[in-house]
Amino acid sequence: MINFKKNKFLFDLSLYLKTFVFALLIFLGAYLYLSWLKIPGTLNKTTADTAALLVALSMIFSSLGYFFNFADRLAIYRKHLGMIGFGFAVWHLLLSWSALLNLFKVETWESGKMWPMLTGFLAFSIFTVMALISNQLSTRLLGSKLWKGILRFGFLALILVMLHVFFLKSARWLTWYQEGMQGPPALSLLVVIFTAIVLILRLALWFSLSKRRAR
Ligand code: HEM
Repeated sequence: MINFKKNKFLFDLSLYLKTFVFALLIFLGAYLYLSWLKIPGTLNKTTADTAALLVALSMIFSSLGYFFNFADRLAIYRKHLGMIGFGFAVWHLLLSWSALLNLFKVETWESGKMWPMLTGFLAFSIFTVMALISNQLSTRLLGSKLWKGILRFGFLALILVMLHVFFLKSARWLTWYQEGMQGPPALSLLVVIFTAIVLILRLALWFSLSKRRAR
């Protein structure tokens, strides 16, 4: 019988498969939620929300593991969540291609309407670099200090994703709030709240570590 834990390649593959099934469940849940809300553009929104959730999840474990022991066990899925999340982000980009092209038009910059796509594009660029260096060869070539330093830009990318969604969706969230919050919230709002939690946990970790070092 094959021992999956001893064969590194098969073990990694099994983690990818499990993460993929998990990602499909998130995708399906998001698709059903958005279809139930009868919002147009369901497919693109679903890929976007799934991408953001998976990427944010991949970044939660380092801080969560510091405060809660149970999260340590899940930390091995970090890379797989990030890579599959990136795959959904690529899909989202392809579905948003025409919107992206507006970023390269002079009128978009002159009218100040570049922010939603610019923030999305910058976040995507950071995630691309992270995906490209998520392998052992890059760790060896860059050295672990630089490699870890580059991966920390993921938190900047998460902030950019929050801004991207905020610029695109905040007017709708405000209308929903002003109308007495009738009906369930937009999935984009829940995604941004989750992303904010990931960032707050990271800040709490930095704060706690710097307090420890100062002692
Ligand atoms: C060049 C890169 C990107 C472009 C051109 C782009 C474009 C768009 C567009 C046009 C929408 C509005 C879709 C709609 O309302 O139907 C959108 C929404 C969204 N995008 Fe992006 N995006 C990019 C990168 C990203 C990245 C990297 C993420 C996260 C990993 C992301 C996450 C989201 C989310 C969560 C929404 C809101 C979905 C919803 O309304 O439920 N985007 N994006």
